[in-house]
Amino acid sequence: MTEKDFILKNTETSNLKNGSFSWQSPSNIALVKYWGKSEPQIPKNTSISFTLNNCHTTTTLKFSKKNKPSKEFSIEVIFEGEKKEGFKPKIVKFFERIEKYVPFITEYDFIIKTKNSFPHSSGIASSASGMSALALCLMNIQKELNPEISDGYFRQKASFLARLGSGSAARSIEGGLVVWGEHKEITESSDLYGVTFPYNVHDNFNNYQDTILLVDKGEKQVSSTIGHNLMHEHPFAKQRFAQANENITQLSKILQNGNLTAFINLVESEALTLHAMMMTSNPYFILMKPNTLKIIEKIWEYRQNNNSNICFTLDAGANVHVLFPEREKEKVNTFIINELIAFCQNNQYICDSVGNGAKQL
Ligand code: PMV
Repeated sequence: MTEKDFILKNTETSNLKNGSFSWQSPSNIALVKYWGKSEPQIPKNTSISFTLNNCHTTTTLKFSKKNKPSKEFSIEVIFEGEKKEGFKPKIVKFFERIEKYVPFITEYDFIIKTKNSFPHSSGIASSASGMSALALCLMNIQKELNPEISDGYFRQKASFLARLGSGSAARSIEGGLVVWGEHKEITESSDLYGVTFPYNVHDNFNNYQDTILLVDKGEKQVSSTIGHNLMHEHPFAKQRFAQANENITQLSKILQNGNLTAFINLVESEALTLHAMMMTSNPYFILMKPNTLKIIEKIWEYRQNNNSNICFTLDAGANVHVLFPEREKEKVNTFIINELIAFCQNNQYICDSVGNGAKQL
């Protein structure tokens, strides 16, 4: 698929007057991280993520034909029951970017009702789940206009649109393991949209667990837009992108052969490298908090003493994602409750695991 395959030519059929569509779309956690991009939201390296199950956004898109046609977008956003003017600019920007592919968006008045399953300002980014849910709702309108489009095309274009809202949102349509960014060893991989990891995955990774420790629930210290931009002048950028692509090659093998020791080593190294990139950019940032480091040390100690396969990964923030195989669930949860939640803000954490992707409601 190329960019041209997503341009919508046929708009005159829009006799759809009004309606509404709802989707529940998941968050995802990257194992090999995306950090650095070029226009328009093309990743500098391939990334791969676990789709989450319990962390998701539910969005209902209500639409009705405008009384008077206009070129302006007409959008109202209601977040968790409250009208949010502050959310509009991001969505307007998203609509500007996708208009070429879904030109009917200028023809309607939209009301976007959205809510997250995770606590507001928990430090968990809702852009991936939010943008993918909205993209899927818009694809429902396109399907009404072009009923012949296949399910595969529907989901691929939803990922393509979501990517233009937030890069990592491209990985929040499908379930399991999702790859985004062209890679010579991953069949069908693309810079334009996410694809399901195309090879057999070892049983060790079935229903993998992710307990998210909410260390710092504040506003993000550095927005991802600023963060990605800092990679343009970054002294280590070239090596980082090459390393990430090599890590995809390695992780692809690991996911197939089930080598958990190699998995742990690669995933933790990726998390620390993401943070190292931020510490070595200019301006520089430290996004970990003292409690992030305390948790990491505890995880290492527990792994050593219990012959466990527990490991951590991080997003662009202080929260810690604790990853472990399902068979260790009971023991690791006891460890987390007894030793780790004391380092979380208000003792808050979320038990999650790998999920099946977005679903229409
Ligand atoms: O999708 P964005 O632009 O918010 O970037 C997300 C970047 C990371 O979450 C730090 C890594 C990733 O691959 O998800």
